[in-house]
Amino acid sequence: MPARSDRAMTNGEATVRRVALVTGAAQGLGAAIAKALHGAGHRVIFADIDVAKVEGVVAKLQSDDAAAVAIDVRAKPSIERAAAICEERFGPVEILVNNAALTRATDFFDLSIDEWDDLMAVNLRSHFLTAQVMAAGMMERGFGRIINMTSVAGQRGGPGVQGLHYATSKAGIIGATRYLAQLFAEGGVTVNAIAPGPIQTEQTALAPPDRVARVAAQVPLKRFGDPSEVGALAVYLASDAAGFVTGATIDINGGILMR
Ligand SMILES: NC(=O)c1ccc[n+]([C@@H]2O[C@H](COP(=O)([O-])OP(=O)(O)OC[C@H]3O[C@@H](n4cnc5c(N)ncnc54)[C@H](O)[C@@H]3O)[C@@H](O)[C@H]2O)c1
Repeated sequence: MPARSDRAMTNGEATVRRVALVTGAAQGLGAAIAKALHGAGHRVIFADIDVAKVEGVVAKLQSDDAAAVAIDVRAKPSIERAAAICEERFGPVEILVNNAALTRATDFFDLSIDEWDDLMAVNLRSHFLTAQVMAAGMMERGFGRIINMTSVAGQRGGPGVQGLHYATSKAGIIGATRYLAQLFAEGGVTVNAIAPGPIQTEQTALAPPDRVARVAAQVPLKRFGDPSEVGALAVYLASDAAGFVTGATIDINGGILMR
């Protein structure tokens, strides 16, 4: 296990070097967040259900401080296995980023029970399972950072921003974040949510260009966000400097929702 005093230098500033696990790290925001944490000097497990793809992302980094691990966030044994591999490789998880999700824009009247259940298992149920597996250890050690990826869809809702199941799962994450932030506070574990607006990722690249242009026009900053901007926010929330931030949902949305 890395010593608490183990330090890495980032942009000339000393940061405590920690062990992080990011789910859904094979592409998009998960990959960007995991790379940003790695860039900040942390040891990072890139975890994803798509093993080949996540191995490819890690291989490109050519770093002993990054490793790829298979995880299915729907299944507790799979989460336990990934946490155990992390502990063996780098030490116990200190920073957990719950990022894996399914994004679906299914029309309300076409939405089936199976699709609802599948999406909820990945997007929302996973948050209680990862916390059950990893938070007790964090509290015992007196330090932890849990970062949950929600979305403007969970704050604003409405059929313009994904399906009912997606929006509901993301709203649920905000509730779970507040609940767990209170539950874990005495153990030195902070729990926060990041609520991105439209970010330029593989997911958004699949959307029809006219829809992308329409969405960008609604953003006061008139553009999509860059994944590295979300990565930088995650690095801050994971840092010791963010120790007084907990239960928060931080918007990173170009101003599309101001509250
Ligand atoms: N891209 C955006 O504009 C945007 C906006 C708001 C919120 N978000 C949120 O940010 C997060 C990342 O979004 P993205 O666009 O990068 O998503 P994405 O679909 O590009 O990537 C999701 C990743 O999760 C993995 N995954 C899927 N099911 C899994 C499972 N059962 N177990 C483990 N891994 C699994 C996928 O293989 C994939 O690598 C999501 O939580 C999403 O809701 C994204």
